[in-house]
Amino acid sequence: MSKVKAAITAVGAYVPEYRLTNAILETIVDTNDEWITSRTGIKERRILKDKDKGTSYLAIMAAKNLIEKKKLDPTTIDLIIVATATPDMPVASTAAYVASEIGAVNAFSYDLMAACSSFLYGMSTASSYIESGRYKKVLLIGADKMSSIIDYEDRATCIIFGDGGGAVLFEPNTEGNGFEDEILRSDGIGRNFLKIEAGGSLTPASHESVDNKQHYVFQDGKNVFKYAVSKMADVSEQIVKRNQLTNEDIDWLVPHQANKRIIDATARRVDLPEEKVMVNIHKFGNTTSATLPLCLNDYETQLKKGDRLVFAAFGGGFTWGSVYLTWAYDS
Ligand code: UT7
Repeated sequence: MSKVKAAITAVGAYVPEYRLTNAILETIVDTNDEWITSRTGIKERRILKDKDKGTSYLAIMAAKNLIEKKKLDPTTIDLIIVATATPDMPVASTAAYVASEIGAVNAFSYDLMAACSSFLYGMSTASSYIESGRYKKVLLIGADKMSSIIDYEDRATCIIFGDGGGAVLFEPNTEGNGFEDEILRSDGIGRNFLKIEAGGSLTPASHESVDNKQHYVFQDGKNVFKYAVSKMADVSEQIVKRNQLTNEDIDWLVPHQANKRIIDATARRVDLPEEKVMVNIHKFGNTTSATLPLCLNDYETQLKKGDRLVFAAFGGGFTWGSVYLTWAYDS
């Protein structure tokens, strides 16, 4: 009997209606379309305007989209992981609320936080549960309401991030397709360069922390860029070599959408032409935990059973890594 692999068997997604275009940003901060496009590749991002809705809303909508497409009975889901950097609340589990709202009454659930690598790390966690035989249906959701932690007076960060959610279902596969390999890394030096300084146990919220804007994302873009380019490319190259793949064997690179220049550098390192690289950063910007499933959703109709996909991500912490997976279905 062939080994049970953890395969992605369905994809769903949700992005809010409101489009924050480069032209609108020009009216908010000192920036311009030419700068944003040439430095990042971003043209617009989606923003969840409703003040009474948090990340859970994006996650619920993405999960419902998957449930509808797959005709999945939510009571059969064993586990829900919400990968996010922006949970609804610091303590109450966002995933628990999402599970209840979508009717996954038999599931347990938890949040997984690894900044922009949350979804990639979640792929490792979700597939391990399936491979072990312990659970049969694991719903992995990546969702972030980045607009809730962005300072719209800071042109270095507000032009990059957007809101969105994506979901995938992991199930056992005995046809030989699914999760193949992973290289996951982290380095605590990164918290000097990309962080929200206050609101955690180290610097609890105070009048002072609010006045000092310490609840917003701070990013030393130049340094993060340097690390991201080299680390994302390194792990992608390593996973390709370790699995004896050539650029001909790889059907798709699925890179975290932080900056088009980082995506291009990673693709160059594994010698892939642009038609094999999933890119939607121009539409959504950097949606943190949602970038990878939003890519899968956009390209789902082009994916074929047996396609070889290499995922790569880099984020705060630092956290980064690469996953190699074979696609399990024709859509
Ligand atoms: O997803 C998690 C991981 N995050 C990332 O991977 C993001 C990595 N970093 C980046 O993508 C890039 O560093 C940024 C897009 C954030 C910035 O691009 P950059 O090419 O590194 O620009 P920079 O910070 O070096 O700034 C270059 C110039 C500066 O002006 P001077 O000092 O050369 O006169 C900035 O003040 O561009 C200026 N600048 C802007 N100009 C127009 C910075 N932001 C803007 C802006 N519009 N929005």
